[in-house]
Amino acid sequence: MTTSVSGGLAIEGLHKVLGGRSIIHSLDMAVRPGELVSLLGPSGCGKTTTLRMIAGFLTPDAGSIKVGGREVVNLGPEHRPSAMVFQNYALWPHMTVAKNVGFPLKLRKRPKAEIAERVDAALTLVNLMHHKDSRPARISGGEQQRTALARALVQEPELLLLDEPLSNLDAKLRVKVREDIREIQQRLGITTVIVTHDQEEAMSVSDRIAVMNNGRIEQFSTPADLYSTPATEFVATFIGSLNRLEGRIEDGRVVPGAGVVGIRPEDVVFGPEAHPRGLAATVERVVPRGHFAELHLRREDAELRSYVTGVPPAVGTSGCARIEKWLEFEDGQLVGQGTPA
Ligand SMILES: Nc1ncnc2c1ncn2[C@@H]1O[C@H](COP(=O)(O)OP(=O)(O)OP(=O)(O)O)[C@@H](O)[C@H]1O
Ligand SMILES: [Mg+2]
Repeated sequence: MTTSVSGGLAIEGLHKVLGGRSIIHSLDMAVRPGELVSLLGPSGCGKTTTLRMIAGFLTPDAGSIKVGGREVVNLGPEHRPSAMVFQNYALWPHMTVAKNVGFPLKLRKRPKAEIAERVDAALTLVNLMHHKDSRPARISGGEQQRTALARALVQEPELLLLDEPLSNLDAKLRVKVREDIREIQQRLGITTVIVTHDQEEAMSVSDRIAVMNNGRIEQFSTPADLYSTPATEFVATFIGSLNRLEGRIEDGRVVPGAGVVGIRPEDVVFGPEAHPRGLAATVERVVPRGHFAELHLRREDAELRSYVTGVPPAVGTSGCARIEKWLEFEDGQLVGQGTPA
């Protein structure tokens, strides 16, 4: 299959009202050529609405959408250089895998020989040639998902759009298919936007993530940056786990105050010995999480969650817990980061 010459995506001032409500508010986003970006946010925040406008299935009330520098906002989906994989991937049950994949080309009245060649290339890419003549009902969920992906890739789009591509798969298959998608995306160098509400999924495949809330992008950055320097309290709680406490930190303890502090569980250190920066703490709960455990600790000033590796202490164990790093928020915005003096 030929490598797509991928253009980037540039969205400016995108606006949409649905059912009398403003759903997307002057959204701006620029995706670089060959980049994989996730739109991540809670249910109802406007992810699908945004993707449908990019694909051309929904007309924005205002704004510009450029693919590879070309304005596409007035073009129908079939005239845009993009292909979308829908959440319920909608395969035709009466058609074979190959017929499903070739369908968009048939619609475009491509010659039979060309269709056959491009279908084979797309099926090879997603590793499904052996199921070419199978019907969708006879193949697994992951294989159905890859068929839907092949049906998008066969169009050789400049821009690939995926709406919750993994939501119908079980936990193990999700990880496998998301790695497949990332591998194919990088091999083709195809600009891709994935919609998801799963932060772990977004963190593991994306070059950058746009965290959405209420029809707005709260922060658009790399996974590592979103985690270490979340711009808002919303981003901090949505990405990763966070101890959220009202007040501020003084001499290693939480004291009342106007702001909010956020502490990642890995920045709370629990041990048997007293520590000059720590406070006495008791283990109230231990939640095994695989290669680490989450401890629920009680200190006189606060309840804190902490991660430990190795053999976790038993419930009821007394020790010392100290805070090594924290985030400071005011009115929901990050205003500082703290470390012990
Ligand atoms: N045709 C419509 N008429 C009125 N409201 C709509 C319409 N389509 C979507 N909405 C509303 O717009 C908001 C955003 O919907 P959207 O489908 O974009 O959310 P989402 O972020 O994709 O959520 P999910 O994670 O649940 O799929 C929701 O509150 C939804 O009810
Ligand atoms: Mg959706």
